Amino acid sequence: MLAEAQGCLGCHRSYSAAEIPNPGSRWGSVPRFAAGNARMYAESRREIAEFIRFGAPRSWLDDPAAAARLADQPVRMPAYGGSLSPDEIESLVAFAASVERVGSFPDGVEDEAVAEGRALAREQGCFSCHGVDGSGGLPNPGSLGGFTPGFLGGNFGDMVRDRAEFREWVLDGTSRRLAGNPAVRFFWVRQRVSMPAYRDRLTDEQLEAIWSWIEAARTASE
Ligand code: HEC
Ligand code: HEC
Repeated sequence: MLAEAQGCLGCHRSYSAAEIPNPGSRWGSVPRFAAGNARMYAESRREIAEFIRFGAPRSWLDDPAAAARLADQPVRMPAYGGSLSPDEIESLVAFAASVERVGSFPDGVEDEAVAEGRALAREQGCFSCHGVDGSGGLPNPGSLGGFTPGFLGGNFGDMVRDRAEFREWVLDGTSRRLAGNPAVRFFWVRQRVSMPAYRDRLTDEQLEAIWSWIEAARTASE
């Protein structure tokens, strides 16, 4: 695989490995791929391409404070623009965008409820447990899979069959169907992080907006 051959994975460790510390950099470490933090760096495929070609997005390189930060940090993203062909860069962008799920959801969201749902999910802290844009994967010791589930993956449908179950999850922090399963309860009492109940914090309309955002994001990432 090209990303492996080019040494990308030497710096961008797999999700199960520890991140490489990078003191002085924007977030203090070298981001792992698929850890749900892509959008802390790159908002779009264009910015991912700029990372790979120039070692940083243009907006960072053009900003004196960001450029000074880059010059000082121990680990720096190399610029591959001079050594890889446009096709190779394109395939690395496709690889990074897919593991990072950037571009799986359009940046310029047109539907108002969908855009509002995404903004609400961010404001309400859903991303701090479910990953940026619901990409999942934040550790949850003692839980069934060992991490907090996302909204996009294949097993979302097992935990949330429909809108009614979604409402239960968010309003009550649980699912009556799953709570009846002893194996599930075994993990629920042990896990470190649990789903909070938002009953007093979200209106019906806000809940519906978040649901339409999740549905749109799931459709876009299929
Ligand atoms: C020498 C270490 C190093 C190597 C090798 C490296 N990167 Fe990076 N990369 C970084 C650092 C550090 C950042 C974060 C930007 C910062 O804080 O300066 C980054 C950021 C990124 C980002 C944006 C952040 C994210 O998580 O999506 C992408 C995409 C990326 N690199 C892709 C690649 C690809 C593809 C390769 C191989 C062609 C590669 N990198 C090789 C160090 C490296
Ligand atoms: C404190 C961390 C935390 C926050 C904040 C949080 N969740 Fe959760 N959520 C969880 C955990 C952990 C689970 C897994 C179910 C369980 O075992 O309790 C979960 C489960 C879910 C589920 C069902 C499982 C799945 O596949 O995703 C949905 C839907 C959900 N949360 C939506 C939301 C929404 C929407 C918000 C914001 C309004 C939110 N969560 C905020 C931790 C959190």
